[in-house]
Amino acid sequence: MNEADSENIAAAFRRRGYALTEDIKKADAVVVNTCTVRQKAEDKAISQIGRLRVWKEKRPDGKLFVVGCAAQKLGGKYLKQKFPFVDEVVGAKAIEQFEDSLIAQLGPSPETETSHQNIYRSPQTAYTTIMRGCSLKCSYCIVPAVRGPAVCLSPDAVLADAADKLKSGAKEIVLLGQTVNSYKYGKTTFSELLRKVLALPGLQRLRFMSPHPIYFDDAFLQLLAAEPKLARHMHLPVQSGSDRILKLMRRGYTRSGYLALLERLRAAAPGLAVSTDFIVGYPGETEEDFKDTLLLVKEGRFSLAYCFKYSPRTDKPEMAAAISETVMETRLEKLLAAVKENSRLVLNERIGKIEEVLFETETYGRASGNFAVRVKAGGTPGQMAEVLVSGAEKNTLNGKIQ
Ligand code: 5AD
Ligand code: SF4
Repeated sequence: MNEADSENIAAAFRRRGYALTEDIKKADAVVVNTCTVRQKAEDKAISQIGRLRVWKEKRPDGKLFVVGCAAQKLGGKYLKQKFPFVDEVVGAKAIEQFEDSLIAQLGPSPETETSHQNIYRSPQTAYTTIMRGCSLKCSYCIVPAVRGPAVCLSPDAVLADAADKLKSGAKEIVLLGQTVNSYKYGKTTFSELLRKVLALPGLQRLRFMSPHPIYFDDAFLQLLAAEPKLARHMHLPVQSGSDRILKLMRRGYTRSGYLALLERLRAAAPGLAVSTDFIVGYPGETEEDFKDTLLLVKEGRFSLAYCFKYSPRTDKPEMAAAISETVMETRLEKLLAAVKENSRLVLNERIGKIEEVLFETETYGRASGNFAVRVKAGGTPGQMAEVLVSGAEKNTLNGKIQ
């Protein structure tokens, strides 16, 4: 979500004749888009802002903006006091108004032509935000506090944005939202929105991130089964494999419920790759709870999993039951090892199979299941080709175009 916001901010600058630079010495303006999902992210943002003091001293006419979730959490007053060289602070809740309120001061009025430019993904892949904020209340999560409750964009706005990005060369769209599959605007459901986006000319593949297990319905499963352009991959955060912890986390599903959902998704889309997120060391997590998480890695047949140590945010779970840093480290290492081993198995299962690959260069592309794929030659950037997989190493499949 932050990457998408940063791209939108960059686009607003571009409309005023600015260009991105990798060289901070050349920059007339710097925007620090901050995250606060875990304490580490917030700390990183703070030290990055601190380092910009030198830039500002050399470029007193330069503009320094601090935006996003950590800006929302810490507040303009605190940040400007701590870092007097910061020009403006814009919290995550106001990020959409950023262009009107602030960048406008910098230059001439926007041109109308498309100004989109990918920064984080290949030119083939573009993000389209379909909803902002989150209305759930997972106990560990700061997102609802800093981004506010879920607000969906109108289907017209979504389609206009996606069409614009396809016109400027994107082949694959990633629809974004904190609980993306809970999308509802008037009578338009998530599945109906997907259908509309799937009908846009030029679209080769559609992804979305991140769905929440409680919002899948039969209409979606039918669409997934019928629509090969819907990517055969889903990032479906599970957080824990223990029912007790899932309940404390207020996730709204059980371990067996989650696994049953995976079965239904995989029945609709055979070969569907599923990746996930785990949190280890939630207050009160016992060895038994952790073992349930460890076992879930294999049972869920996850292609990939991001693993995080619990980081206390605004929530106040039983802190008396806090897990020590050493225990958390040990559990994280065990989990990472299990994930690595399992990813290798999942990748190896693909050997001898055909993958639909969207090429980014002549030799590199991404499979529908989101695996990185390498071939010796023959790929056309921006085009899809079938690759017969002959081997796997690290996180990459190797093969030959059919
Ligand atoms: N501590 C650790 N990890 C967290 N996440 C969200 N909040 C926390 C927290 N307080 C993780 C979840 C989520 C991902 C984006 O970040 O796994 O899916
Ligand atoms: Fe946070 Fe995601 Fe839970 Fe919303 S659904 S509260 S964004 S973890």
